[in-house]
Amino acid sequence: MGVTYFKRFRMELDLRDGLFPQPMVPSEYFTLLWDENLIEQHSETKFRSFRFEIDANVFQCLGNRDGCRRLMGDISRRSNFLPNSTILIGHRDPDSGQVDYCGTIQAIRDNMNRGSIQNIGVTPEHRGMQLGTFLIYRAMQGFLSEGLQAGTLEVTAQNTKALRLYERLGFRVTRTVFKAVEVSLV
Ligand SMILES: CC(C)(COP(=O)(O)OP(=O)(O)OC[C@H]1O[C@@H](n2cnc3c(N)ncnc32)[C@H](O)[C@@H]1OP(=O)(O)O)[C@@H](O)C(=O)NCCC(=O)NCCS
Repeated sequence: MGVTYFKRFRMELDLRDGLFPQPMVPSEYFTLLWDENLIEQHSETKFRSFRFEIDANVFQCLGNRDGCRRLMGDISRRSNFLPNSTILIGHRDPDSGQVDYCGTIQAIRDNMNRGSIQNIGVTPEHRGMQLGTFLIYRAMQGFLSEGLQAGTLEVTAQNTKALRLYERLGFRVTRTVFKAVEVSLV
């Protein structure tokens, strides 16, 4: 076994001056607030969002269904879990009426009393429709409703698409960290 290091940025959005404008998303999308009966839908959406992405190398649990299920269970059982900032997005096909879930975000309160986004994922076929922006908007609204004055997250430096999105929404890098990951050498 060897170890590889992934550069990650901690980012923060100051909410004291308010929030960026609510993005418009097409009407076939709908949102569901956290409910423990939705754990399977969150887990599956997380898996389909992350499985081919860089973060599935950084956090191996994100690359498989069981890992995503375990992670969702762990997050939602934490005493600092923030259900009001944990959102699922569904899509209803206008022709067939068929529903699939395509966006998920979860959050906890950190020990500095900030809202901390744990994972945000949009499935590949639904990207570029402002769903990511919308998920962050709703999570931040949840933070404000809890009286929290800042939102934080961590992003892998190579994840340029996510990084650009966060910067565009006003997040600023506060720290650079390195995540050690064990890799097989054969
Ligand atoms: C990061 C992620 C959540 C973004 O989701 P998304 O729904 O595509 O996000 P948005 O649509 O709000 O914004 C993404 C881009 O689409 C563009 N976009 C937004 N609305 C658009 C529209 N109507 N038409 C065309 N492009 C649009 C945005 O300008 C943005 O472009 P940018 O890359 O230049 O910033 C998604 O790519 C993802 O799930 N990635 C894999 C998992 C992951 O890495 N998560 C982040 C972990 S930190």
